[in-house]
Amino acid sequence: MSRTLFVTTALPYANGSFHIGHIMEYIQADIWVRSMRMSGHTVHFVGADDVHGAPIMLKAESEGLTPQALVARYAAERPIYLNGFHIEFDHWHSTDSAENVALSQDIYRRLKAAGFIDTRTIEQFYDPVKGMFLPDRYIKGECPRCHAKEQYGDSCEVCSAVYSPTELIEPYSTLTKATPVLKSSEHFFFRLSDPRCVEFLQSWTTGSNANGDKRLQPEVLAKTREWLGTGDADSAAKLADWDISRDEPYFGIPIPDAPGKFFYVWLDAPVGYLASLKAYCAKKNIDFDALLDPEGDTEQVHFIGKDIMYFHALFWPATLKFSGRKTPDNLHVHGFITVSGEKMSKSRGTGISPLRYLQLGMNAEWMRYYIAAKLNSHVEDLDFNPDDFIARVNSDLVGKYVNIASRAANFISKHFEGKLAYLGDVQSLQDQIALVADQVRADFEAREYGRAIRRIMAHADQINQAFDAAQPWVMAKGISSADDTQKATLQDICSRALAGFKALSVMLAPVLPALTDKVAKELFGSSSGYLWADATELPTQISPFKHLMQRVEPTMFDDLFEPPAAPVVTPGGEAIADTIDIKDFAKVDLRIAHIVNCEEVDGSDKLLRLTLDAGEGRHRQVFSGIKSSYTPADLIGKLTVLVANLAPRKMRFGVSEGMVLAASHNDSKVDAGIYILEPWPGAQPGMRIN
Ligand code: 2FM
Ligand code: ZN
Repeated sequence: MSRTLFVTTALPYANGSFHIGHIMEYIQADIWVRSMRMSGHTVHFVGADDVHGAPIMLKAESEGLTPQALVARYAAERPIYLNGFHIEFDHWHSTDSAENVALSQDIYRRLKAAGFIDTRTIEQFYDPVKGMFLPDRYIKGECPRCHAKEQYGDSCEVCSAVYSPTELIEPYSTLTKATPVLKSSEHFFFRLSDPRCVEFLQSWTTGSNANGDKRLQPEVLAKTREWLGTGDADSAAKLADWDISRDEPYFGIPIPDAPGKFFYVWLDAPVGYLASLKAYCAKKNIDFDALLDPEGDTEQVHFIGKDIMYFHALFWPATLKFSGRKTPDNLHVHGFITVSGEKMSKSRGTGISPLRYLQLGMNAEWMRYYIAAKLNSHVEDLDFNPDDFIARVNSDLVGKYVNIASRAANFISKHFEGKLAYLGDVQSLQDQIALVADQVRADFEAREYGRAIRRIMAHADQINQAFDAAQPWVMAKGISSADDTQKATLQDICSRALAGFKALSVMLAPVLPALTDKVAKELFGSSSGYLWADATELPTQISPFKHLMQRVEPTMFDDLFEPPAAPVVTPGGEAIADTIDIKDFAKVDLRIAHIVNCEEVDGSDKLLRLTLDAGEGRHRQVFSGIKSSYTPADLIGKLTVLVANLAPRKMRFGVSEGMVLAASHNDSKVDAGIYILEPWPGAQPGMRIN
């Protein structure tokens, strides 16, 4: 029976380029979509950029761009990656679109009408200099438990404590260094704790799709049971309501009838799935509402990573359900990608840049094949290992699969004008192919790609062994003067090998769409790509064999991995920071300043108060933590270096209007002294340092 599927991958934030983790997810989904289409199912496969939220707003601002301009920059490069890796979305959209605004607001209105929206006044940290509420990641301070400095507002990286930003000791805004103040404001909450929600989620998470397959993988179900309870009276759910609003300034979708309030990015992000589908439907004249009729047959399937399960297994189905919409039929959750057993990290030089991979001319289908060979249906991390990659591509793909065609095709072209012919019974050959192809098809559908690849390669081994055992090269010697039986036998051996090769090509088509398309068109002369049913159709004619695939050269990996930036720890106690470009540097306005006055600060054993002249026709007050190394008399009258465009920072003793530069050891426990910078003679106050 033919099915209709609506398939998505997680929408990437539009403030960065794709990394290998994105590409892995897209390859996983693309293979699935292609395989389902080969079964004759209709699949609508869409993606979009996830563009809203504070990080994108602030990054754009720091680059002097509008959020839209920043997002456009990343949107423009998406096709290079997607086309490069043969990832064929039907449509790519944006959450900053008319469709998404309309859908998000509509969903919200319905949730509100059904009694699922609460308002509550909450107190949060607010940056008084910047004039905005601060998300936790923009607040830092001392850990209330282990007293490690410079910890984020939600958790400590040193002792792993989890806390609220208000518990931080000496908190500061990472945007302006200002001390945040508590400020209250009204927020909108989605009532996830509503008994109707809990009841629905109990049934949704444990349910199956229309084909009888479980909606969630066992490990995902187990996670949701932790969150929801098991449904027994004594394991009542402890779900917290979900804060879905943010105050201006915010780059997001306005909440209807609530001036100055916007939807939190995670409210409108998954709605972006629907928005993208809707835009696609309009383009293709498909009835969007009928396609997503809650009572209809369309299957809605989301591929996502394990880090965003909570959003997709609780919030998303619940918001859809109680706004009267169709709920998802399956979540397919994958793990992370590691490189040679380690988490990806640019500074350690293990990051694989997908763009660099393509730019080096490495074959995208090697990557697709390797990732397929390592994926299964579980939420497991996948390790990318260069030696393993080389072995699988060279010995399996080139050595086993491509090899069959290159060996058999030459005899057929040379001695039989490209014509294939089979001796005796072909039914058993077809039956054998049908059996393997059907198992492989089922493996792909169940997302057991590694198992599919193992089956395909086992079949390739069989074909190669049969070919070797028959020793066609012996038979081909003196073939022009040989009898008809010998000729027919040689032709049969090669034809069977090529029929096997064609079947393998059909089975590999979801993984290697470009290569198998070339095989179909150039070797077997078909007009279009393969369907599963083509596997058992025996070929009768080939064109001369053309080169199909290069082997991987191990040296290619030397250039793929960014040159290892070994963390050289300097006498300063810390490694050199990440590379910046000249534009980043130019943002820092360094000026020569004259120390007009300097005095101790009452009540502080660290600070000196400097009065500086940076040639502006006024004096600045700057506090500096250099008292342990200098007395006021050491400094008065000297020249030094001032960070002149640092946002003013309110301190206990007054406002500091900039910062003077000084060298020290990174670890405050190492007493290596503090050394203030002084220019060579001749420099004048106000000169810029470049
Ligand atoms: O984690 C992320 O990268 C999010 N941008 C994923 C959003 S998925 C969906 F909800 F849009
Ligand atoms: Zn701590």
